[in-house]
Amino acid sequence: MWINPGRNPALAIGASNSPFQPAGMQAARDRFTRFAPLLGQLFPELTASGGRIESPLLPAPAMQEALGLPADQGRLWVKADHSLPVAGSVKARGGFHEVLEVTERLALANDLLPSDADYRSLCGPHARALFAHHQIAVGSTGNLGMAIGVLAAALGFRAVVHMSTDAKEWKKQRLRQRGVEVVEHPGDYELAVASGRKLAQADPLCHFVDDERSLSLFMGYSAAALHLQSQLQAQGVTVDAQHPLIVYLPCGVGGAPAGIAWGLHQLFGKNVHCFFAEPVQSPCFLVHMLAPEGSSPSVYDYGLTNKTEADGLAVPRASQLAAAVMRPLLAGVFTMEDQTLFDHLALLLGTQGLRIEPSAAAGFSGPGHLRDSALACPNANHVVWTTGGLLVPDTQYQVFLQRSAYPSNQVAPVQSTT
Ligand SMILES: Cc1ncc(COP(=O)(O)O)c(C=O)c1O
Repeated sequence: MWINPGRNPALAIGASNSPFQPAGMQAARDRFTRFAPLLGQLFPELTASGGRIESPLLPAPAMQEALGLPADQGRLWVKADHSLPVAGSVKARGGFHEVLEVTERLALANDLLPSDADYRSLCGPHARALFAHHQIAVGSTGNLGMAIGVLAAALGFRAVVHMSTDAKEWKKQRLRQRGVEVVEHPGDYELAVASGRKLAQADPLCHFVDDERSLSLFMGYSAAALHLQSQLQAQGVTVDAQHPLIVYLPCGVGGAPAGIAWGLHQLFGKNVHCFFAEPVQSPCFLVHMLAPEGSSPSVYDYGLTNKTEADGLAVPRASQLAAAVMRPLLAGVFTMEDQTLFDHLALLLGTQGLRIEPSAAAGFSGPGHLRDSALACPNANHVVWTTGGLLVPDTQYQVFLQRSAYPSNQVAPVQSTT
């Protein structure tokens, strides 16, 4: 666990010319609201939620006990983004937002959305004919590609996802089944993004979703903070100096956790404390924070391998945009071995019946690091963000379970959610 000595949330109030304004977070939330009827029409699994893509905030007392966290250290919650419908991960928040922003811009520019228009008209033949001429592309470790690819293809865009050859095979297959073009690149995630970016630049009708640089992705993630605020209120949870909110976020390139953390700071100021969680072999955000400002180190520079079963977190170099925003906000970063991820994944199934992927288990070692610190008091609320898992095939999930140190008779039977 590294604690950020430079944390000073007061420094993070955006200057008026900064692109990071609270209005951007509200605008993202409003965009999701405008598009909800269309999303409900495109994806039957969204009928029940009226087209809203959100996840529950769940109390996790049994997991708290299993982790050995006494009640005098605060209360444990799970923010269950592993259950986000359609794309099955936190990347749906940013990814869907950017696809919807591009869609809206194109539709407005082509007079397809008069002022009182029903957004469901964008499923119609005129809009689809327009979108078919445009490409939306992205470079991804898997889950961002799933979000962008599935929504872009459903809207009628040509959807292209650039992935490294060693990305999870089932993710590539699932994308291809949904009409998404998957382009494989030798090397890691960073190279796949760079190749995708270069190919996209050659096509004026291609919009490239840039996981390392995109403000639209960032604002899409940040809107989660508004929803979490209303969920905390509904649960009667106070956040102030005596009741700290401590949030543990799995970190890959840093966009998703930084967007959420920035949003939370707009709402709760210095009373929210955000910790990023990274695999021991892929701590790109940590090495960035430790390096002199202005440099952009990679985990390979430190002799690390960037090999981890937490595929969503297997990123060698942090997003500079995310790192710049987080420098005064971040409370700290902690790392964990893959074995800990498998153990916590199995423990969460056994205690709370929740089915997550290894990347999404990264936050659970956080509260233990803060044991007996000033933050871990009886009034503290610890929120572990479980960032993915809904779409993991059962056979793959069983392999994860087998790698845990917990005998299979101590965990509940798997309930299929796919
Ligand atoms: C399940 C999961 N959790 C967390 C992350 C981290 O998001 P980011 O790469 O924006 O830091 C990812 C990224 O793909 C992911 O797939």
